[in-house]
Amino acid sequence: MSSAPAALVDAFGRAHRDLRISLTDRCSLRCTYCMPADGVPWLPGPDMLGTDELVRLARVAVTLGVTEIRLTGGEPLLRPDVVDVVRRLAALEGPTGRPEISMTTNALRLPGLAHELKDGGLVRVNISLDTLDRETFRRLTRRDRLDGTLAGIEAAAAAGFDPVKLNAVAMRGVNDHEVVDLVRFAVAHGYEMRFIEQMPLDPGHTWDRVQMVGQDEILDRLRAAFRLTPVGDRGAAPAERWLVDDGPATVGVIASVSAPFCGSCDRLRLTADGQLRSCLFARAETDVRTLVREGADDDALAAAFRACVAGKKAGHGIGEPGFVQPDRPMSAIGG
Ligand code: 5AD
Ligand code: SF4
Repeated sequence: MSSAPAALVDAFGRAHRDLRISLTDRCSLRCTYCMPADGVPWLPGPDMLGTDELVRLARVAVTLGVTEIRLTGGEPLLRPDVVDVVRRLAALEGPTGRPEISMTTNALRLPGLAHELKDGGLVRVNISLDTLDRETFRRLTRRDRLDGTLAGIEAAAAAGFDPVKLNAVAMRGVNDHEVVDLVRFAVAHGYEMRFIEQMPLDPGHTWDRVQMVGQDEILDRLRAAFRLTPVGDRGAAPAERWLVDDGPATVGVIASVSAPFCGSCDRLRLTADGQLRSCLFARAETDVRTLVREGADDDALAAAFRACVAGKKAGHGIGEPGFVQPDRPMSAIGG
């Protein structure tokens, strides 16, 4: 890069340090809040970023001050060269050192990959676990694979990932009665449980603000079983955390809808087909794949990152008049 580039600061003064890269839109599950039963028309292979392209874009982002890279999907472990991707991203160098690489996964392939990923430089995993009930899991993910997910969680812990964070999207009539059991399970194993308010990203567009299980309701249910003490300053982290029965275990709630944290958002997203998005709910994408393939130099790519950040809105606007759900499903945008 010819000159020291300006950091990725948007019109509201938010510096962007967290890049979420979707490694594939494919998934081994079909969670109802994310995908239709038949899956989605997968992105065509030639549209997907190759690993050299992806690493190059990440390198530019890291030069611009990105310090954390989170790998998502779809299911990121379905990318055949995922360990190589982790290794190459972990070796990037930014102005303040190497980026931290983390991953959101359904854990099904962790039994075979956890050790290699750890050795490759992955530092943290967030695993989706919405229920401990086999039948609920089967209905929710449309696959009978609860045992596989639990085996993946164990493999993550055995490989030394610490903390292992477990994420559950809270859903009325599906798993809202399980929040206490999920926390008990996490505490017993030394994992960190986090509940996520469901956002309007579901393929059926059935999301309804009134039906949503919100933070207050989750906390009420938990307080019936545990003493919760707020942990305090969360910085740009989406989860607000509480000590469970005076700790050390904690539980987190990601209240994206009822208490949006857009004001401290430091996240940017790169889809598996090479589109930069400044928000899950952005209406616009910046086509960096075409730039890369047409031979753009690093300065031009940096300019595209800055332009994307410059266009970032103040917030997601869920619940405001004029809000429109993104065209793409969560599996294509990246969780
Ligand atoms: N609302 C909130 N979180 C979601 N995720 C997927 N879809 C939604 C949604 N509609 C999150 C879940 C899942 C991860 C891949 O993305 O936490 O575990
Ligand atoms: Fe797959 Fe995650 Fe979507 Fe479930 S939420 S279908 S595990 S990408």
